[in-house]
Amino acid sequence: MLPVLHGARWRNMRNILSPAFTGSKMKQMFQLALGCCDNLYEEILQTQTELGTEKLNFDTIQNMKYMEMVTLESMRLHTSFSNAYRHCVKDYTVDDGNGLKFNIHQGSNVWIPILGLHMDPKYFPDPKRFIPERFNAENRPNIHPATYIPFGAGPRNCVARRFGLMKIKALLYHLLLNFSITASPNTPKVLPMNKAFAFLDTVDGDFPVTFKKRQTN
Ligand code: HEM
Repeated sequence: MLPVLHGARWRNMRNILSPAFTGSKMKQMFQLALGCCDNLYEEILQTQTELGTEKLNFDTIQNMKYMEMVTLESMRLHTSFSNAYRHCVKDYTVDDGNGLKFNIHQGSNVWIPILGLHMDPKYFPDPKRFIPERFNAENRPNIHPATYIPFGAGPRNCVARRFGLMKIKALLYHLLLNFSITASPNTPKVLPMNKAFAFLDTVDGDFPVTFKKRQTN
C-alpha cells in the first residue's frame, strides 16, 4: 500500500505501519547462528572484554566486523521482503545501450525482485550457500549496490535500516554470549519458506534449534 501513497497520506501511513515491520525478522537470524556460531562467539567475547563494565552500545556494534558480515549475508539469503515495488508517475524509457530497451508507462507498477537479485549466481556465486565472507573488506566493494537491496533503495527505502540492523546485531550478541546454538535432529537443513509475494516467512512459522546455556556467563 505504501508505495502508491504520496504526501501527507503516505507520511501518516508510514508512521502507523513502522512498528509492525519490527517483530517478524528476528527468527530469520537463528539459522545463520548454526553455521558460524564459533567465529561470531569469539568476536563477541573479545568485544565484551573490550567493553569491560560498559554496556553494549551503537558504536561498539558498528565495529564488529564479523557480526556485520554474518548479518548482511543472512539478509541476502533470508531477506524479509521478496519484492519492492514502485508506481510509475511519468513515462520512462529504459535503455541499457546494449539492446535492452523498453517503455515503462505512467500509471503502471514496477516490481523489483529483491530475492531474485540476491539469489542470482551472476551477482552471488553459489547463492544458496551461507558465506559471510562475501561481505568482508576485500569482497564487499565488488558487490554492485543495486544487486543487494534487503532494505530497498532510493528515497523510499526502509526508514529503519540502521535501527533494524542494530536490533538484529544486539539480539545476536546477547543470545550468543549466553547460549550456544546448535542444530537439533529436527532442524531442517534448508529452511522451508512460504512462497509469499511480499513478506517472506518459514512454512510453519518456527523451526527447532538447541539452546545450551554457556557455563561462563
Ligand atoms: C531487518 C529489518 C528490516 C528489513 C529487512 C526491512 C526491509 C524493508 C524494505 C525492503 C522496504 C521497502 C523499501 C523499498 O521499497 O525500497 C522497507 C520499507 C519500510 N520499512 Fe523496513 N525493514 C526492516 C526493519 C524495519 C523497522 C524496524 C521499521 C520500523 C521501525 C521499518 C519501517 C519501514 C517503513 C515505514 C517502510 C516504508 C518506507 C516508505 O515506503 O516510505 N523497517 N523495509
